[in-house]
Amino acid sequence: MLTLGVVGTNWITQQFVEAAAASEEYQLTSTYSRHEDTGQAFADKNGGQVFTDFDQFLRDGNAQVIYIASPNSLHAKQALAAINADKQVIVEKPLVSNPQEFAQIKAALAAHPDVRLFEAARQIHQPNFRAIRKQIAAMETLNGAMLTYMKYSSRYDDVLAGKDPNVFTTTYSGGALQDLGVYVVYDAVAWFGKPNRVHYYATPIRTGADGKGVAVFGYDNFDVTLNFGKTTNSYLPSEVYGLKDTIVMDNAAELNSVIYHAADGSTKKLSEEPDDNPMLAEVRDFAEVINNPKDPDNARHYQTWFHLSEIVNGVLYDLRRKASLVFPADSQD
Ligand SMILES: NC(=O)c1ccc[n+]([C@@H]2O[C@H](COP(=O)([O-])OP(=O)(O)OC[C@H]3O[C@@H](n4cnc5c(N)ncnc54)[C@H](OP(=O)(O)O)[C@@H]3O)[C@@H](O)[C@H]2O)c1
Repeated sequence: MLTLGVVGTNWITQQFVEAAAASEEYQLTSTYSRHEDTGQAFADKNGGQVFTDFDQFLRDGNAQVIYIASPNSLHAKQALAAINADKQVIVEKPLVSNPQEFAQIKAALAAHPDVRLFEAARQIHQPNFRAIRKQIAAMETLNGAMLTYMKYSSRYDDVLAGKDPNVFTTTYSGGALQDLGVYVVYDAVAWFGKPNRVHYYATPIRTGADGKGVAVFGYDNFDVTLNFGKTTNSYLPSEVYGLKDTIVMDNAAELNSVIYHAADGSTKKLSEEPDDNPMLAEVRDFAEVINNPKDPDNARHYQTWFHLSEIVNGVLYDLRRKASLVFPADSQD
Protein backbone atom coordinates (compact mmCIF):
# COMPACT_ATOMS: atom_id res chain seq x y z
CA MET A 1 0.00 0.00 0.00
CA LEU A 2 1.43 3.39 -0.99
CA THR A 3 1.03 6.14 1.57
CA LEU A 4 -0.46 9.28 0.00
CA GLY A 5 -0.41 12.99 0.82
CA VAL A 6 -2.57 15.47 -1.10
CA VAL A 7 -2.24 19.18 -1.82
CA GLY A 8 -5.44 21.18 -2.35
CA THR A 9 -8.92 20.28 -1.14
CA ASN A 10 -11.20 21.06 -4.07
CA TRP A 11 -13.49 18.49 -5.75
CA ILE A 12 -10.71 17.16 -7.98
CA THR A 13 -8.69 16.08 -4.92
CA GLN A 14 -11.81 14.36 -3.59
CA GLN A 15 -12.21 12.54 -6.91
CA PHE A 16 -8.54 11.57 -6.85
CA VAL A 17 -8.61 10.13 -3.30
CA GLU A 18 -11.77 8.19 -4.20
CA ALA A 19 -9.99 6.74 -7.25
CA ALA A 20 -6.93 6.00 -5.11
CA ALA A 21 -9.10 4.19 -2.55
CA ALA A 22 -10.97 2.26 -5.26
CA SER A 23 -7.66 1.07 -6.70
CA GLU A 24 -6.72 -0.39 -3.29
CA GLU A 25 -3.15 0.76 -3.95
CA TYR A 26 -2.99 3.89 -1.77
CA GLN A 27 -3.69 4.89 1.81
CA LEU A 28 -4.32 8.60 2.47
CA THR A 29 -2.11 9.74 5.34
CA SER A 30 -1.99 13.54 5.05
CA THR A 31 -3.58 16.62 3.53
CA TYR A 32 -2.00 20.01 3.00
CA SER A 33 -4.40 22.93 3.09
CA ARG A 34 -3.77 26.60 3.71
CA HIS A 35 -6.60 26.56 6.22
CA GLU A 36 -6.98 24.24 9.23
CA ASP A 37 -10.79 24.10 8.93
CA THR A 38 -10.77 23.31 5.21
CA GLY A 39 -8.11 20.65 5.70
CA GLN A 40 -9.96 19.18 8.69
CA ALA A 41 -13.24 18.97 6.77
CA PHE A 42 -11.38 17.02 4.06
CA ALA A 43 -9.69 14.77 6.64
CA ASP A 44 -12.97 14.13 8.47
CA LYS A 45 -14.33 12.70 5.25
CA ASN A 46 -11.22 10.91 3.99
CA GLY A 47 -8.93 10.29 6.95
CA GLY A 48 -5.31 11.22 7.60
CA GLN A 49 -3.59 14.16 9.26
CA VAL A 50 -3.87 17.84 8.33
CA PHE A 51 -0.95 20.20 7.79
CA THR A 52 -1.08 23.91 7.11
CA ASP A 53 2.68 24.21 6.66
CA PHE A 54 3.87 22.77 3.34
CA ASP A 55 7.40 21.88 4.48
CA GLN A 56 6.07 20.16 7.57
CA PHE A 57 3.54 18.28 5.42
CA LEU A 58 6.40 16.91 3.31
CA ARG A 59 8.58 16.17 6.33
CA ASP A 60 6.08 14.71 8.82
CA GLY A 61 3.10 13.66 6.67
CA ASN A 62 4.25 10.03 6.34
CA ALA A 63 3.49 9.96 2.59
CA GLN A 64 5.50 8.22 -0.13
CA VAL A 65 3.38 9.76 -2.88
CA ILE A 66 2.31 13.40 -3.13
CA TYR A 67 -0.64 14.42 -5.34
CA ILE A 68 -0.64 18.13 -6.21
CA ALA A 69 -3.94 19.76 -7.23
CA SER A 70 -3.24 23.41 -6.49
CA PRO A 71 -3.68 26.31 -8.94
CA ASN A 72 -1.43 25.80 -12.01
CA SER A 73 1.10 28.51 -11.15
CA LEU A 74 2.02 26.64 -7.93
CA HIS A 75 2.60 23.24 -9.51
CA ALA A 76 6.30 23.58 -10.34
CA LYS A 77 7.35 25.02 -6.99
CA GLN A 78 5.44 22.40 -5.00
CA ALA A 79 6.58 19.56 -7.28
CA LEU A 80 10.22 20.64 -6.90
CA ALA A 81 9.88 20.65 -3.12
CA ALA A 82 8.31 17.17 -3.21
CA ILE A 83 11.05 15.80 -5.52
CA ASN A 84 13.73 17.28 -3.26
CA ALA A 85 12.03 15.53 -0.32
CA ASP A 86 12.34 12.23 -2.29
CA LYS A 87 8.58 11.79 -2.70
CA GLN A 88 6.93 10.17 -5.71
CA VAL A 89 4.95 12.99 -7.32
CA ILE A 90 1.65 13.19 -9.22
CA VAL A 91 0.88 16.68 -10.49
CA GLU A 92 -2.38 17.84 -12.00
CA LYS A 93 -2.34 19.05 -15.58
CA PRO A 94 -0.77 21.23 -16.81
CA LEU A 95 2.42 20.22 -15.02
CA VAL A 96 4.18 23.55 -15.54
CA SER A 97 3.58 27.11 -16.73
CA ASN A 98 6.53 27.25 -19.14
CA PRO A 99 9.62 25.35 -20.39
CA GLN A 100 11.90 26.95 -17.77
CA GLU A 101 9.87 25.26 -15.05
CA PHE A 102 9.98 21.96 -16.94
CA ALA A 103 13.77 22.22 -17.13
CA GLN A 104 13.96 22.79 -13.36
CA ILE A 105 11.85 19.70 -12.76
CA LYS A 106 14.02 17.61 -15.09
CA ALA A 107 17.14 18.75 -13.28
CA ALA A 108 15.63 17.90 -9.88
CA LEU A 109 14.57 14.46 -11.13
CA ALA A 110 18.09 13.82 -12.43
CA ALA A 111 19.39 14.57 -8.93
CA HIS A 112 16.78 12.21 -7.38
CA PRO A 113 16.86 9.14 -9.66
CA ASP A 114 14.47 7.09 -7.51
CA VAL A 115 11.70 9.67 -7.82
CA ARG A 116 9.03 9.25 -10.51
CA LEU A 117 6.93 12.25 -11.50
CA PHE A 118 3.63 11.93 -13.36
CA GLU A 119 1.43 14.56 -14.96
CA ALA A 120 -2.17 13.59 -14.23
CA ALA A 121 -3.38 13.63 -17.83
CA ARG A 122 -6.18 11.24 -16.99
CA GLN A 123 -7.54 10.42 -20.44
CA ILE A 124 -4.28 9.04 -21.87
CA HIS A 125 -4.47 6.19 -19.34
CA GLN A 126 -7.99 5.16 -20.30
CA PRO A 127 -8.62 2.08 -22.47
CA ASN A 128 -10.72 4.14 -24.93
CA PHE A 129 -7.77 6.44 -25.57
CA ARG A 130 -5.55 3.47 -26.37
CA ALA A 131 -8.26 2.02 -28.63
CA ILE A 132 -8.24 5.23 -30.68
CA ARG A 133 -4.44 5.21 -30.91
CA LYS A 134 -4.52 1.60 -32.11
CA GLN A 135 -7.15 2.37 -34.75
CA ILE A 136 -5.17 5.42 -35.96
CA ALA A 137 -2.09 3.21 -36.35
CA ALA A 138 -4.14 0.81 -38.49
CA MET A 139 -5.53 3.51 -40.82
CA GLU A 140 -3.77 3.62 -44.20
CA THR A 141 -4.11 7.37 -44.64
CA LEU A 142 -4.44 10.14 -42.08
CA ASN A 143 -6.15 13.30 -43.17
CA GLY A 144 -6.38 15.35 -40.00
CA ALA A 145 -8.73 15.70 -37.08
CA MET A 146 -11.21 18.07 -35.46
CA LEU A 147 -11.11 17.81 -31.68
CA THR A 148 -13.46 19.70 -29.37
CA TYR A 149 -13.62 20.13 -25.59
CA MET A 150 -15.71 23.11 -24.56
CA LYS A 151 -17.58 23.25 -21.27
CA TYR A 152 -19.11 26.26 -19.55
CA SER A 153 -17.40 26.74 -16.19
CA SER A 154 -19.47 27.74 -13.18
CA ARG A 155 -16.52 29.96 -12.31
CA TYR A 156 -17.24 32.03 -15.41
CA ASP A 157 -20.35 33.18 -13.54
CA ASP A 158 -17.88 34.73 -11.06
CA VAL A 159 -15.92 36.41 -13.85
CA LEU A 160 -19.15 37.88 -15.18
CA ALA A 161 -19.91 39.06 -11.64
CA GLY A 162 -16.62 40.98 -11.57
CA LYS A 163 -14.52 38.44 -9.64
CA ASP A 164 -11.22 36.82 -10.64
CA PRO A 165 -11.32 33.06 -9.91
CA ASN A 166 -7.85 31.47 -10.14
CA VAL A 167 -8.59 29.36 -13.20
CA PHE A 168 -9.51 32.44 -15.25
CA THR A 169 -6.42 34.46 -14.35
CA THR A 170 -2.95 34.70 -15.83
CA THR A 171 -1.66 35.17 -12.25
CA TYR A 172 -2.43 31.51 -11.59
CA SER A 173 -1.43 30.39 -15.12
CA GLY A 174 -5.09 29.77 -15.96
CA GLY A 175 -7.30 30.17 -19.02
CA ALA A 176 -9.02 27.88 -21.49
CA LEU A 177 -5.88 26.54 -23.14
CA GLN A 178 -4.24 25.54 -19.87
CA ASP A 179 -7.38 24.16 -18.31
CA LEU A 180 -9.26 22.34 -21.09
CA GLY A 181 -7.13 22.86 -24.20
CA VAL A 182 -4.47 20.69 -22.57
CA TYR A 183 -6.70 17.61 -23.06
CA VAL A 184 -6.99 18.02 -26.82
CA VAL A 185 -3.32 18.98 -27.09
CA TYR A 186 -2.57 15.66 -25.36
CA ASP A 187 -4.83 13.88 -27.87
CA ALA A 188 -3.15 15.45 -30.87
CA VAL A 189 0.43 14.96 -29.66
CA ALA A 190 -0.16 11.36 -28.52
CA TRP A 191 -1.99 10.37 -31.70
CA PHE A 192 -0.12 12.38 -34.38
CA GLY A 193 3.15 13.46 -32.76
CA LYS A 194 4.65 16.87 -32.17
CA PRO A 195 3.22 19.33 -34.70
CA ASN A 196 5.54 21.08 -37.17
CA ARG A 197 3.81 24.42 -36.55
CA VAL A 198 1.01 25.72 -34.34
CA HIS A 199 -1.40 28.66 -34.31
CA TYR A 200 -3.76 29.78 -31.59
CA TYR A 201 -6.69 32.11 -32.18
CA ALA A 202 -7.66 32.96 -28.59
CA THR A 203 -10.78 34.79 -27.39
CA PRO A 204 -9.63 36.91 -24.45
CA ILE A 205 -11.87 37.74 -21.51
CA ARG A 206 -11.84 40.67 -19.08
CA THR A 207 -9.21 39.11 -16.81
CA GLY A 208 -6.65 38.93 -19.65
CA ALA A 209 -6.85 35.12 -19.86
CA ASP A 210 -8.30 33.21 -22.82
CA GLY A 211 -11.93 32.16 -22.34
CA LYS A 212 -12.02 29.96 -25.43
CA GLY A 213 -10.11 29.51 -28.63
CA VAL A 214 -9.23 27.56 -31.74
CA ALA A 215 -5.77 26.11 -32.29
CA VAL A 216 -4.46 24.62 -35.53
CA PHE A 217 -1.59 22.13 -35.61
CA GLY A 218 0.26 21.67 -38.91
CA TYR A 219 1.70 18.23 -39.76
CA ASP A 220 3.45 17.04 -42.94
CA ASN A 221 0.28 16.00 -44.76
CA PHE A 222 -2.64 17.35 -42.75
CA ASP A 223 -3.82 19.83 -40.14
CA VAL A 224 -5.53 19.18 -36.82
CA THR A 225 -8.03 21.72 -35.46
CA LEU A 226 -8.56 22.01 -31.70
CA ASN A 227 -11.64 23.78 -30.39
CA PHE A 228 -11.83 24.35 -26.64
CA GLY A 229 -13.20 26.75 -24.07
CA LYS A 230 -14.79 27.47 -20.72
CA THR A 231 -17.20 30.27 -21.58
CA THR A 232 -19.76 28.23 -23.52
CA ASN A 233 -20.90 24.65 -24.08
CA SER A 234 -20.22 22.60 -27.19
CA TYR A 235 -22.04 19.40 -28.02
CA LEU A 236 -19.96 18.71 -31.14
CA PRO A 237 -18.47 15.24 -31.47
CA SER A 238 -14.78 14.98 -32.38
CA GLU A 239 -13.35 13.19 -35.42
CA VAL A 240 -10.13 11.73 -36.76
CA TYR A 241 -10.09 11.56 -40.56
CA GLY A 242 -8.68 8.86 -42.77
CA LEU A 243 -9.39 8.77 -46.51
CA LYS A 244 -12.87 7.28 -46.61
CA ASP A 245 -12.82 6.18 -42.99
CA THR A 246 -13.36 8.25 -39.84
CA ILE A 247 -13.15 7.78 -36.07
CA VAL A 248 -15.96 9.60 -34.25
CA MET A 249 -15.84 10.21 -30.50
CA ASP A 250 -18.52 11.83 -28.36
CA ASN A 251 -16.01 14.07 -26.64
CA ALA A 252 -12.26 14.36 -27.21
CA ALA A 253 -11.43 14.49 -23.49
CA GLU A 254 -14.01 12.23 -21.92
CA LEU A 255 -14.03 9.55 -24.66
CA ASN A 256 -17.17 7.81 -23.46
CA SER A 257 -18.20 6.58 -26.90
CA VAL A 258 -15.87 5.94 -29.85
CA ILE A 259 -17.06 4.58 -33.21
CA TYR A 260 -14.98 3.71 -36.27
CA HIS A 261 -16.76 4.34 -39.59
CA ALA A 262 -14.95 2.16 -42.15
CA ALA A 263 -14.50 3.03 -45.83
CA ASP A 264 -17.33 0.64 -46.80
CA GLY A 265 -19.77 2.46 -44.50
CA SER A 266 -19.80 -0.21 -41.80
CA THR A 267 -19.25 0.78 -38.20
CA LYS A 268 -17.30 -0.75 -35.32
CA LYS A 269 -17.57 0.29 -31.68
CA LEU A 270 -14.06 0.93 -30.31
CA SER A 271 -15.02 2.08 -26.83
CA GLU A 272 -15.74 0.11 -23.72
CA GLU A 273 -17.85 1.30 -20.79
CA PRO A 274 -15.71 3.90 -18.94
CA ASP A 275 -14.95 3.61 -15.21
CA ASP A 276 -17.32 5.51 -12.92
CA ASN A 277 -14.32 7.47 -11.67
CA PRO A 278 -12.34 8.84 -14.65
CA MET A 279 -9.13 8.94 -12.57
CA LEU A 280 -9.08 5.23 -11.75
CA ALA A 281 -7.02 4.18 -14.78
CA GLU A 282 -4.28 6.72 -14.09
CA VAL A 283 -3.97 6.00 -10.36
CA ARG A 284 -3.57 2.30 -11.19
CA ASP A 285 -0.93 3.04 -13.84
CA PHE A 286 1.01 5.31 -11.48
CA ALA A 287 0.93 2.75 -8.66
CA GLU A 288 2.19 0.04 -11.00
CA VAL A 289 5.21 2.15 -12.01
CA ILE A 290 5.95 3.34 -8.46
CA ASN A 291 5.75 -0.21 -7.09
CA ASN A 292 7.85 -1.78 -9.87
CA PRO A 293 9.93 1.01 -11.41
CA LYS A 294 12.60 -1.31 -12.83
CA ASP A 295 10.19 -3.57 -14.68
CA PRO A 296 11.06 -2.94 -18.36
CA ASP A 297 7.44 -2.30 -19.43
CA ASN A 298 6.91 0.11 -16.53
CA ALA A 299 10.17 1.92 -17.25
CA ARG A 300 9.13 2.28 -20.91
CA HIS A 301 5.64 3.51 -20.01
CA TYR A 302 7.08 6.05 -17.59
CA GLN A 303 9.51 7.39 -20.20
CA THR A 304 6.71 7.61 -22.77
CA TRP A 305 4.42 9.58 -20.41
CA PHE A 306 7.20 11.89 -19.28
CA HIS A 307 8.33 12.57 -22.84
CA LEU A 308 4.73 13.22 -23.89
CA SER A 309 4.31 15.59 -20.96
CA GLU A 310 7.40 17.53 -22.01
CA ILE A 311 6.17 17.91 -25.60
CA VAL A 312 2.63 18.82 -24.54
CA ASN A 313 3.81 21.45 -22.06
CA GLY A 314 6.17 22.85 -24.71
CA VAL A 315 3.34 23.03 -27.25
CA LEU A 316 1.07 24.76 -24.70
CA TYR A 317 3.76 27.39 -24.28
CA ASP A 318 4.22 27.82 -28.04
CA LEU A 319 0.46 28.24 -28.46
CA ARG A 320 0.31 30.78 -25.68
CA ARG A 321 3.13 32.78 -27.24
CA LYS A 322 1.31 32.77 -30.60
CA ALA A 323 -1.65 34.39 -28.87
CA SER A 324 0.55 36.82 -26.87
CA LEU A 325 -0.69 35.33 -23.59
CA VAL A 326 1.92 36.06 -20.92
CA PHE A 327 1.91 34.67 -17.37
CA PRO A 328 3.66 36.27 -14.41
CA ALA A 329 5.32 32.84 -13.97
CA ASP A 330 7.17 33.45 -17.25
CA SER A 331 9.26 36.24 -15.78
CA GLN A 332 10.41 34.22 -12.76
CA ASP A 333 13.32 31.90 -13.13
N1 LIG B 1 -7.83 16.08 -14.02
C1 LIG B 1 -8.99 16.70 -13.95
O1 LIG B 1 -10.03 16.20 -14.37
C2 LIG B 1 -9.03 18.06 -13.32
C3 LIG B 1 -10.26 18.66 -13.04
C4 LIG B 1 -10.24 19.89 -12.37
C5 LIG B 1 -9.06 20.51 -12.05
N2 LIG B 1 -7.88 19.91 -12.39
C6 LIG B 1 -6.60 20.54 -12.06
O2 LIG B 1 -6.49 20.59 -10.66
C7 LIG B 1 -5.80 21.76 -10.25
C8 LIG B 1 -6.65 22.50 -9.24
O3 LIG B 1 -7.76 23.01 -9.92
P1 LIG B 1 -8.95 23.71 -9.08
O4 LIG B 1 -9.92 24.19 -10.06
O5 LIG B 1 -9.38 22.81 -8.01
O6 LIG B 1 -8.12 24.95 -8.49
P2 LIG B 1 -8.48 25.93 -7.28
O7 LIG B 1 -9.86 25.66 -6.81
O8 LIG B 1 -8.15 27.31 -7.71
O9 LIG B 1 -7.43 25.51 -6.18
C9 LIG B 1 -7.30 24.15 -5.77
C10 LIG B 1 -6.90 24.10 -4.31
O10 LIG B 1 -5.67 24.78 -4.13
C11 LIG B 1 -5.75 25.58 -2.96
N3 LIG B 1 -5.59 26.98 -3.37
C12 LIG B 1 -6.52 27.80 -3.92
N4 LIG B 1 -6.04 29.02 -4.11
C13 LIG B 1 -4.77 29.00 -3.67
C14 LIG B 1 -3.76 29.96 -3.58
N5 LIG B 1 -3.96 31.21 -3.99
N6 LIG B 1 -2.57 29.59 -3.06
C15 LIG B 1 -2.36 28.33 -2.63
N7 LIG B 1 -3.30 27.37 -2.68
C16 LIG B 1 -4.48 27.69 -3.20
C17 LIG B 1 -7.10 25.35 -2.32
O11 LIG B 1 -6.95 24.39 -1.28
P3 LIG B 1 -6.90 24.90 0.24
O12 LIG B 1 -7.90 25.99 0.39
O13 LIG B 1 -7.26 23.67 0.99
O14 LIG B 1 -5.49 25.34 0.49
C18 LIG B 1 -7.92 24.75 -3.42
O15 LIG B 1 -8.81 23.78 -2.99
C19 LIG B 1 -5.51 22.55 -11.52
O16 LIG B 1 -4.19 22.31 -11.91
C20 LIG B 1 -6.47 21.98 -12.54
O17 LIG B 1 -5.96 22.06 -13.86
C21 LIG B 1 -7.85 18.71 -13.00
